[in-house]
Amino acid sequence: MADRRDVEQRRERILAAAAELLETRGIANVSRRSVAEAAEVTIRSVSSVGSHRVDLLREVVSGLPFPPTSQRIQQQAADAADNPMSTILTVARDAFGAPASVWDVRELQAVVLAPFDDALAETVRERIMLRWEAAAAVVGQLRSAGAVDADIDDDAATLHLLAVGAGLALLEPLVPHSTEAAAWLSLVSRHLESLAAVDPPGLAYDGPRIPWRVRVLASASPGATARVLRVLALMRADVRSMLSHTHAQDQQLLDLVLDVPANITGSAIESALASVSRRSIVMRGSGDDAQDLFTQVLDGATDLVANPDSAPAAAAALALADSWRVLPASSGPDSSAEVMRLQWTPDLHVVLTRKAAPFVDVERQRASALLRLVDALANKPEGTGGFGWRITLKDGIPIDIRLARPADADAVAAMHERCSDDARYQRYFAPVSAWREDQLRRLAGGHRGATLVAQTLDGEIVGLGNVFPERPDSTESAELALIVEDSWQGWGLGASLMQRLIELAERMEFENLVALVLATNVKMMALLENTGIDWRRDADPELPATVVRLVAQLGSAQIRDNAQVS
Ligand SMILES: CC(C)(COP(=O)(O)OP(=O)(O)OC[C@H]1O[C@@H](n2cnc3c(N)ncnc32)[C@H](O)[C@@H]1OP(=O)(O)O)[C@@H](O)C(=O)NCCC(=O)NCCS
Repeated sequence: MADRRDVEQRRERILAAAAELLETRGIANVSRRSVAEAAEVTIRSVSSVGSHRVDLLREVVSGLPFPPTSQRIQQQAADAADNPMSTILTVARDAFGAPASVWDVRELQAVVLAPFDDALAETVRERIMLRWEAAAAVVGQLRSAGAVDADIDDDAATLHLLAVGAGLALLEPLVPHSTEAAAWLSLVSRHLESLAAVDPPGLAYDGPRIPWRVRVLASASPGATARVLRVLALMRADVRSMLSHTHAQDQQLLDLVLDVPANITGSAIESALASVSRRSIVMRGSGDDAQDLFTQVLDGATDLVANPDSAPAAAAALALADSWRVLPASSGPDSSAEVMRLQWTPDLHVVLTRKAAPFVDVERQRASALLRLVDALANKPEGTGGFGWRITLKDGIPIDIRLARPADADAVAAMHERCSDDARYQRYFAPVSAWREDQLRRLAGGHRGATLVAQTLDGEIVGLGNVFPERPDSTESAELALIVEDSWQGWGLGASLMQRLIELAERMEFENLVALVLATNVKMMALLENTGIDWRRDADPELPATVVRLVAQLGSAQIRDNAQVS
């Protein structure tokens, strides 16, 4: 009895020593002698446990507990208390951080040697079977939650799950470990997502539905579109209409009209979309949403023809604004991330607001298109100071001067790039060579007052003029500024723009007009002189000595027009 216990204890000591040596030195450096020394037994005793180092490995491995992360999958398989997807994501994170928590280094050695030793292969296969069954059970749980597509075989998914853990554990010590844990997790979740059923099961719904308008900003890739659609499908939303528009370089704006089950709230739609997009705007739809978006837009245009006063509401609907107001050109907020200020007429601006998400370029372009329509409908009272003017320069070339629209920002930027450093310096008093986007957006309108652009009949913008309140809350003084592209200077365009700006400042009932001009800017001085208004110099200690502040009273001006007005 005592003898057998001795034998048993000796065997355990030998296996413990072998286990440690196999873990620290690896099978290539473990001999029966080294195990005998470590266990303080004879080599013969070691041989009785395993006649070869591979036998020792087999004995050690068959008694190894599974590492903790591997056990986590086995627990999930036995008791699906946790969501299988979150278990897999946790396991993926742990496996990436510590591959040995999925595969013990000794078991890995056994896996590698198994094809060359039948007995070892038997032991390894038994253990892998246990892992396989657990992984297969979790795959089954995922499938019943609709997260595995019918085309994907259970065995393939199970093998993939096992192979990733084993591969990580095998390769981790050998690869330059430069991957970010976050990037790895995104990869895993993307991968899991790609396994998910395209048409998740059990989604039939016959109950009442409500229309929603949804605008989603997502990456510009078919995959991103697919993810948005899948999330909507999971909510049993019917997509009635969808338009996609490229935004910036790598983004797209998806415009959707949805019919969503009545029990799903707007914030539920928003949070679901937040998991698959950068930003989204979710608004209750209307009866019009029964039609597709193109029909809606055309019907909107028809309404506008019948009733041009509906332009502000139409602009708000087009830009998905929360609210809109029509304000005098000289009051209210300037454009910002959540405000889009549109020059509707010379006297009235439409101010759209959206708190949920900043307006994006395509929305500004759409608003511009609407203003073009409004402009065309207004049948331009030419030369009368209506929506725009056609003038003829001294060399006979016709030019249109009109209110700027949001979509002019790019053309205004291009004009500034074509201008000389001198011209830009004279206008902005700073050697600005790179024009920042937001500055330009402001220059191209969107503020109280008025912005005029001068455009060739080919549509190129060659001049820009602004009149705006001198101080944020000032209603008395308007500042006037303009720039004409160098190659278009000297033909009367500056004078024409100036005249319209002065007229607009008067229409907005400003009392004073202010011009800040470099003392050396003879052209601008001559231009101001030629307006016929009485400009006086006004000392301003806050201005640099090189800048002259000229002030004129409005109301009684005799304005000389240098350009012919047709
Ligand atoms: C100032 C500026 C807007 C004038 O534009 P423009 O289209 O050249 O102006 P016009 O052709 O209408 O010329 C207007 C008047 O300027 C005067 N003028 C033009 N070129 C001149 C020159 N080289 N020297 C002196 N006066 C000149 C003339 O008196 C002309 O009147 P005229 O028609 O009776 O001859 C333009 O030169 C410009 O953009 N400059 C850079 C930006 C700037 O200085 N902005 C003003 C500061 S806010």
